[in-house]
Amino acid sequence: MRDFRIAPSLLSADFACLGQEVRDVIAAGADIIHFDVMDNHYVPNLTVGPLVCEAIRPHTQAPIDVHLMVKPVDSLVPMFAKAGADIITFHPEASEHIDRTLGLIKESGCKAGLVFNPGTSLSYLDHVMDKIDMVLIMSVNPGFGGQSFIPHALEKVRAARQRIDEYTAKHGGEIWLEVDGGIKVDNIAAVAAAGADTFVAGSAIYGQPDYQAVIAAMRAELAKVA
Ligand code: DX5
Ligand code: ZN
Repeated sequence: MRDFRIAPSLLSADFACLGQEVRDVIAAGADIIHFDVMDNHYVPNLTVGPLVCEAIRPHTQAPIDVHLMVKPVDSLVPMFAKAGADIITFHPEASEHIDRTLGLIKESGCKAGLVFNPGTSLSYLDHVMDKIDMVLIMSVNPGFGGQSFIPHALEKVRAARQRIDEYTAKHGGEIWLEVDGGIKVDNIAAVAAAGADTFVAGSAIYGQPDYQAVIAAMRAELAKVA
């Protein structure tokens, strides 16, 4: 059985008390903090930068998973590494030199990953698997929380699972497969069955008063997946 990780997205948290929101969700059983960075250029929304990452860093030991929805990418990488990011992912269309950006993330001491929009081909993985620690499949178009899960993302998850398994069987190592957008208690098992091991959930968790109950319900669903 795969290890399953739940990564609440702070995008739906109360921004007036982010430190508390981080502590609460980890205490409620989450594994990772998903940190959505939007620049009003690559995506039509504007969120938070390295200063806020640095501010939440002392509030948890859990990995901070920085999802960069920005263009250009490279100048922000060292800033987020310094601000305490553990994982940094970016969208391949947003970088002129994907291999260089991945290298930059690894050199800065973080795990690196590529993010695939619903319309983006997985072929961007073809020549860079050796530098990848995480593949992130978007099941919504990036920019906003609270959107509906796009069902054809499941095929993409299956295809990504196959690529990862083939690569790691040959070369070893570990590559996480994360899915982001519209994940709820009632679809998380299907996403896991398609091959995901790491689940971002923003509104499903932070939109409810009892974070622990939601995370427990998600884990109960995941336990049904062999
Ligand atoms: C969307 C973000 C997601 C978002 C998920 O662009 O990357 O992380 O916060 O939110 P939900 O779970 O509400 O779809
Ligand atoms: Zn995200």
